[in-house]
Amino acid sequence: MARVAVVTGGTRGIGEAISLALKEAGITVAANYAGNDEKAAAFTERTGIKAYKWDVGDFDACAAGVQQVEAELGPVDIVVNNAGITRDGTILKMTREMWEDVIRINLGGCFNMAHAVFPGMRTRKWGRIVNIGSINGQAGQYGQVNYAAAKSGIHGFTKALAQEGARFGVTVNAIAPGYIDTDMVAAVPADVLEKIVAKIPVGRLGQAHEIARAVAFLCAEEGGFVTGSTLSINGGQHMY
Ligand code: CAA
Repeated sequence: MARVAVVTGGTRGIGEAISLALKEAGITVAANYAGNDEKAAAFTERTGIKAYKWDVGDFDACAAGVQQVEAELGPVDIVVNNAGITRDGTILKMTREMWEDVIRINLGGCFNMAHAVFPGMRTRKWGRIVNIGSINGQAGQYGQVNYAAAKSGIHGFTKALAQEGARFGVTVNAIAPGYIDTDMVAAVPADVLEKIVAKIPVGRLGQAHEIARAVAFLCAEEGGFVTGSTLSINGGQHMY
């Protein structure tokens, strides 16, 4: 039977490309999304991949969401923790809410999802968890203490959970994308973005499918010996 994957934030941007790459690999995909019903419906129409709405920052919603996916598609073998938001601003302008939202969704979402699927993966002795970190969690970024802390946390979370999963056939890895051509990056002020792109050695933004290919590899049978790793895909912007 085909493996079942949940891709959080899986209907747009990098998540959409990941959902598609996993589907192409013969995996049954459930694409989670939080808010944009219209885009999710269009995604399902376009791809044939079912979309499921819940907030990854909500512990109980993740448990219920995974339960629903399992009832409809079967046990979840693969989770890609891709959902994330930005609430950029220098610390002087950053409110407590901006801090808490980013930590709750970007980092808390990884815990909530892993907590929901890990027991089943452990029992079945097979699992793949891929967490989407960021270059800005490795290098820091002016105006992103919340996002950098969350993404950096994801890299630590990955290495800790990888140690817990290894003997049960559950691999846990992270990808650290650089600046990828998505709505999130398009929201960076144009003059700021221009300066960032000027510092990318390959001279361009990344494409979502360039992240998705790597995720598909980590989720494959052949990825079984890769665990606890962080793969940087950033055009050479930060060599970690
Ligand atoms: N390093 C040093 N100083 C900087 C700086 C930098 N990188 N950027 C700005 N400054 C300075 C400015 O020159 C300015 O100095 P003066 O007051 O002396 O003129 C001061 O900091 C304040 O700058 P702003 O007026 O721009 O401050 P702001 O509060 O209006 O905006 C900001 C700050 C929101 C952080 C804005 O600069 C910004 O959006 N930066 C981009 C942040 C970014 O890269 N986000 C990534 C989003 S995509 C993503 O996160 C995906 C991923 O994983 C890669």
